[in-house]
Amino acid sequence: MTNRKPAEIVAEGVRRYGSGQGIVMQLLADINNESGHVSEEAMREVAKAAGVSTAEVQSVATFYSFFSLEPRGRHIVRLCETISCDMKGSAAILAALEKELGIAPGQTTPDGKVTLETTSCLGLCDQSPAMLVDNTPHSRLTPEQACEIVRGLK
Ligand code: FES
Repeated sequence: MTNRKPAEIVAEGVRRYGSGQGIVMQLLADINNESGHVSEEAMREVAKAAGVSTAEVQSVATFYSFFSLEPRGRHIVRLCETISCDMKGSAAILAALEKELGIAPGQTTPDGKVTLETTSCLGLCDQSPAMLVDNTPHSRLTPEQACEIVRGLK
């Protein structure tokens, strides 16, 4: 994540993508990737740049679940809840992570360190239960191992 303001990210996006309402998704993706979420201010900047209303940008941002509207943690922990992982105990891992972090899925720790999410299949079904911490996969987890991994995050 960087400290660039949404207006700077949008300005660079406009140089890259051009103008018009077709750039809304790309601008939102750039902001989400760089800032970790899409703020109200960012939506206003995107609307201005694309020549559409803020409400239109908001409806795109809220429709797609991969856009986060809340600030996220420095680390994103995604635990798979799909059937293979579920059958191998992902519910117990989730309960342990919730207790360890003191948050529920979709929430971020008060220190801004970790956002906990559940997700569908990570493609590691043969090594379930699995979770992704940022871009690093962890598999064949126990609740204790999952908590240890999260505890080790800086
Ligand atoms: S079901 Fe969890 S990784 Fe596929």
